[in-house]
Order: sequence, then structure tokens, then C-alpha cells
Amino acid sequence: MLRHTRMSDPELYGIVAEELDRQEKNIEMIASESTESEELLELSGCVFANKTTEGYPGARFQAGSQVADKMERLGVERAKALYGADHANLQPYSGSTANYSVYAAVLKPGDVVLGMRLDHGGHLTHGSPANFMSKFYNFASYGLSEKTEQIDYDELESLARERRPRLIIAGGSAYPRLIDYERISGIARSVGALFMVDMAHVAGLVAAKVIPSPVPHADFVTSSTTKTLCGPRGGMVLCRAEHAKALDRGVFPGAISSIHLNIMAAKTWLFKHAAGAEFREVMLRVVDNARVLADELARRGFRVISGGTDNHIVLLDLRSKGITGKLFQDALEYVGITINKNMIPADPEKPSVTSGVRIGTTSVSQRGLGAPEIGRIAAMMDRVADAPEDRGVLDACRSEALELIAAFPLYPKGPLD
Ligand SMILES: Cc1ncc(COP(=O)(O)O)c(C=O)c1O
Repeated sequence: MLRHTRMSDPELYGIVAEELDRQEKNIEMIASESTESEELLELSGCVFANKTTEGYPGARFQAGSQVADKMERLGVERAKALYGADHANLQPYSGSTANYSVYAAVLKPGDVVLGMRLDHGGHLTHGSPANFMSKFYNFASYGLSEKTEQIDYDELESLARERRPRLIIAGGSAYPRLIDYERISGIARSVGALFMVDMAHVAGLVAAKVIPSPVPHADFVTSSTTKTLCGPRGGMVLCRAEHAKALDRGVFPGAISSIHLNIMAAKTWLFKHAAGAEFREVMLRVVDNARVLADELARRGFRVISGGTDNHIVLLDLRSKGITGKLFQDALEYVGITINKNMIPADPEKPSVTSGVRIGTTSVSQRGLGAPEIGRIAAMMDRVADAPEDRGVLDACRSEALELIAAFPLYPKGPLD
């Protein structure tokens, strides 16, 4: 791994090697994470990184872009085929940039936009006052029903009628259930709004047809290419044919300048890989593992938000265990199980403490863990929740976690070149 850096900068090489060792020896269950294949790591560092180009194939601002044109056309065709979309733009640098590109394409300053509340599972870029987009647009937020802890579609509908948004956004960072895209699309149409789905978290499950696709229902579908899609750190936007021109202008020159062609090469590989049987098998395992985890934790007295999961995310309300998200996150980190604290609906704790945690099953499913291992992880989580400050318990779990994960190498084909 990094054979040239190893010679020229041993100090930095050592830090990267340490991170590889950390990932290898830990049970990574951050819901937004996944493991990049050897091909993706190669392509992310390939010679396309040397090339500056702006614009679109056939209409670039820099000479020498013919090969880049070939690659971008291939990637776009593969993305369109994978998702059955009319149009795809692979230039956004990340999921956030993908969202900004759509805003640049269709919104004017002061326009009303409806998104899901951050503390109910939405995303920073969907209207949080902490995000700079809130200075330009008038965001209003819908949330979850107190009873079901799922999207309150009636509230969404009455808010849409009252506020008459230009854009309605669905999708989030911590929403474990399916979203009724058809219903929100109908609401959007009835108030003359455009409909955007941010599928950043579930893009892999959608690609593998393990959960329903938002593409037939939305004007725009934005995404990260990491998270369940298991690709490089990048973004993309899909849209209906009628919005293609506006979207392309929104991306460039609206939101970005030169393209990260090396990352686009990795995305292009990813869209071929994600259409295959091997990827679908992993995505099926991701969803099965999340269901097993939710059931096993519920059986042990954890309160699972919304009563279960339909995707890769399990959200827990830890008040039933009398501990905070931060305490549980820190205790599990010591044990070698990596998760994150997360706000839950009507959380009485601060965002730096929280009453909940978010757990994801993508990385562990890629490594091959199945129901028996997930059961053991749930049992360890239970022991840790019952004694988060007991060194004896934590050390015993730490040995068990290391022994469990050692049987599932991060890169089973051998050491990275
Ligand atoms: C729903 C959603 N949208 C967008 C993003 C932003 O993606 P990125 O980190 O690639 O900018 C995230 C990341 O957490 C997300 O969960």
C-alpha cells in the first residue's frame, strides 16, 4: 500500500497504515460508511487527477478533453441504465454539492423549500439554520408523527398547502423506513412544487432493487456515491429529461468548476459493478442484517425508533437503558464497535450528548458478516449498555469483538498494493 509515499514520507505513510489497521480491527457500523473496493481506490488515484476540464463532453473549456469526454459519456450512460433515469450528471463533488446544484438549477433567492427536520432524520443541506443555504432560501420543515415515528404525510401536505413551496425534498440521514415517494410526488404536483429526493443513504439499496426507487416519482434525485452505494466520495444527480438542461447549468457553472475526473472514473466503475449479482447479494445482506440487529436489540430491551427498519439503519432510543448516546458511543468505541450518537425525535439532550444512536450494517455486510455475527454484536451491545463504565465487561467485549471481526478480512483478496 502507498509504496511511493512509504519512501518519500514515512511519517504520513505510518498514519495511513494505522487507519487501515483501525478499520481492519474494528466493527464499523457508522451508517454512512462503506468499504471501497481495490478498483475504486486505484481509480480514485488514477492519472485523470492530472487533467483539468470544465463543461460537458463535446463542449469543454479546456483542450485535450477528448478522453475525458469518452469517460464521462460512459459513466453517464451507466448511471442512467442503473437507475432507469432520463438524465444523469456525475460532476458534483459530494452529496451536499449535488443538493446545492439542484438548488442552483431551480431556485431563486427567497423561494420556499420544504424539507425534513434535521432532528427527525433530515440532512443539514435540507434547511438547517446552521447551513448557509438557509440564508438564501426560505426553508420550512416537516417531521415525524409522534405515534408512528414515521413521516407525518398529513402534516407535510398541510404545510405544503399553507406555504406553497417551489421545491419539496424527501430523504434523510437517519430515517430507517421506506418513504412513500408516490404520495409526496402527488402533494408536490397538487401545489405546483418540484419534487427532489435525496437518496444519499439508500442509493445502493435502490440500485440493487432491494427497496423501491424514487426515480419514477421525482423531478430530481440527488445522491452521494459513498454510503450504501459503496463507491468513492462523490455525488451525482439524476433527473427527468425536461430538467436536463437546467440541471447541467445548475451543476456547472452554477455550483462547481473543474471536474474531479479521477473520482468520476471511480464512479464509472461503480455503476457497472452495482448492476451485478454480487452487489445485489451484498445489498440483500445489508437489509437482512439490519432487520436482525433491530430484532435482537429490541428483544434485549432496547427501544428501536419506529419499531424496526426497512433499510440499513437502526435508530435506538437509549432512554430505556438509562444511558446517553455519547456514553454508549464512547463505550462501544473502546470495545471496537464504531457507531455514532444521534438525535432522536423530541430529544431532551444536546446534540453533543443525545439520547440516541444510529447504527448501520453496510460495511459489516460487505465483509460477509451475517445473522449469527449480528446476533453476537447485539449481545455485546447489550452487555455494554448495562455496564458502560465497567472495565471488566468492556475488556471482555473488546476481545470478543476483535476475535469476531478477524475472521472477516477488510480486503480478503490480500494486502493493498
Ligand atoms: C441525506 C444526505 N444527503 C446528503 C449528504 C451529504 O453527502 P456528502 O457527505 O457526500 O456531502 C448526506 C451525508 O451524510 C446525507 O445523509
